[in-house]
Amino acid sequence: MITRRDLLKSLGTLGAAGTVGVPAILLPSTAQAAVTPFTLPLRIPPVLAPSSTDATTDYYDLDIGETSAEIVPGLQTQVISFNGSVPGPIIRARAGRTVVMTHTNGLPDTTLGGAPGNVTIHLHGAHCPSGEDGYPTDYIQPGGTRSYTYPNNQLPAPLWYHDHTLDFTGPHVWYGMAGLYLMTDDYEDALNLPKGAYEVPLVIQDRNFDANGQLIYTKNMNGETGDTLLVNGTVQPYLNVAKRKYRFRVYNGSNARFYKLALSNGQSFQVIGMEGGLLSAPVTVTSITLAPAERADIVINFGSLAVGTNVELRNTLVASTSSVYKIMQFKVNSTATDTSVVPATLRPVTKFTRSQAVRTRNWTLSRSGMNGNWMINGQVFDENRIDASPRLGDIEIWKFTNQSNMDHPMHLHDVMFQILTINGAAPAATHAGWKDTVVVPRMMGTAEIIMKFTDYTGKFPFHCHVLEHEDMMMMSQFEVLP
Ligand code: C2O
Ligand code: CU
Ligand code: CU
Repeated sequence: MITRRDLLKSLGTLGAAGTVGVPAILLPSTAQAAVTPFTLPLRIPPVLAPSSTDATTDYYDLDIGETSAEIVPGLQTQVISFNGSVPGPIIRARAGRTVVMTHTNGLPDTTLGGAPGNVTIHLHGAHCPSGEDGYPTDYIQPGGTRSYTYPNNQLPAPLWYHDHTLDFTGPHVWYGMAGLYLMTDDYEDALNLPKGAYEVPLVIQDRNFDANGQLIYTKNMNGETGDTLLVNGTVQPYLNVAKRKYRFRVYNGSNARFYKLALSNGQSFQVIGMEGGLLSAPVTVTSITLAPAERADIVINFGSLAVGTNVELRNTLVASTSSVYKIMQFKVNSTATDTSVVPATLRPVTKFTRSQAVRTRNWTLSRSGMNGNWMINGQVFDENRIDASPRLGDIEIWKFTNQSNMDHPMHLHDVMFQILTINGAAPAATHAGWKDTVVVPRMMGTAEIIMKFTDYTGKFPFHCHVLEHEDMMMMSQFEVLP
């Protein structure tokens, strides 16, 4: 029976308890009950050392396998990890220097959540040959090994590696298969942004745990959301900070949840970059919304706060009583000198203009019925169908129109793009640089993006980054032709 509440939910008008795109059902979970917010120190994933290195290339070895992690204190949670770490270890890359990541798949034929043990690893945000991109059916079978070669022939950016298995990306990532890949270059180093201990990655994810501390995954076709927030795999942690500036590399690594990040003291912060790297200039805001797969490179200055002050990072998309409101806490507990700066010019972004585009492609986003598959141009993913064939060197405009009742964060492989319009208006300054994911607003909302296809021919997917929408077929592909 469809109740009025269900109808309202499906129309997206019950927003308060939900996320922007995805109505959330908030159930208390064991982890929620077991962890008092801000009692666990923020975990920082280890930086992986290369197993070898030569004049051009750094080589990394990663073992994928079922391991356990103490996420809820006193309980062991079964996860799928890279080298035993959830999120996976951090890869530090430099633009222009090649990275080879060799993955050994130690999963059984059927793994956690009943998902298959075959995997494929995609480096999200990478500009690399099609064959290195982690195509959804280019599997590493259980027991298998393969190397991916990333030329890093692109602007430095906050990338991340994650599983991309056809129909099962959602559970694979939910159980742990994601890690950071932070790229930089000499230009960025010379800017003297906060670095070392003052540059901190924050991967925000939501999960549900059962009474034994095990993850619950239901493949909710609206998008899987959890009632427990994790940052770098730590439930609602705290971080001791000094009175000075910090650079936070914030990733929305959630399957489906959107967050609006704000500080509890109302303090502003500077956004210095997004998915594709640095903005042309810092943008001062008091909040920023991140859809799944979006990243924000931000600088928070704790310098004017007294030692002893606690500041919370909150998700103001939900009510203050929600279990997913409090993300983490910064405890200002010391002083420190600060010679870092946020320069007025970061990295100039050369803007594409509409007149450079050789064509415009139109894409609709919709659903087959109330509970059916998610579709692009009325079609579900088919690995044997190519829906666009740009040529190398072409600049194109893509216009997405969202005919459904949920927001869709659309992500393209291979390219970084610029947003021309959202609902017909220019994007916010924070969203005016290089991006790889754009939110297309629900209910006939539109987004126009512009990009240039360079260097690599071959097939690349594009899809909604709500992972259950992707798994439920909201994916298509383009093939770059010579
Ligand atoms: Cu984050 Cu197609 O991926
Ligand atoms: Cu990607
Ligand atoms: Cu979607």
